[in-house]
Amino acid sequence: MPKVTAINHVAVVVDDMEKSLSFWRDALGMNLHELRDVPAEKSQVAFLPLAGAEVELVMPTSDDSGIAKYLAKRGPGMHHICLEVDDILGMLAKLKEKNVRLINEEPRTAADGKHYAFIHPESTGGVLVELYQV
Ligand code: CO
Repeated sequence: MPKVTAINHVAVVVDDMEKSLSFWRDALGMNLHELRDVPAEKSQVAFLPLAGAEVELVMPTSDDSGIAKYLAKRGPGMHHICLEVDDILGMLAKLKEKNVRLINEEPRTAADGKHYAFIHPESTGGVLVELYQV
């Protein structure tokens, strides 16, 4: 039986990285582990690890990226929550069986080799959910 094993990260879309870091890093005092450009996604991402999980801040670096379109439509805010699973193929099969609406029917592979897939907010109570098999 495929299982959810952890919260991997929570992603927040921001329109101003420095302003956002003045809250997450400077006011809350969380550690900024890495701030990096992701040219493939036309975005800049900040990683703030915490207790085995991570808060990720994502800012578009181009107007034609998926994340820029999201920002234009909905404004800054919560983007998705990512759950680790021990068997992503098994989990996707189980969700399909339960008529959960998936964005990715098949897992995709990230540059770092992780397998991931998104679940449509319509089936989750309004939150985009990402599944990760590390
Ligand atoms: Co994510």
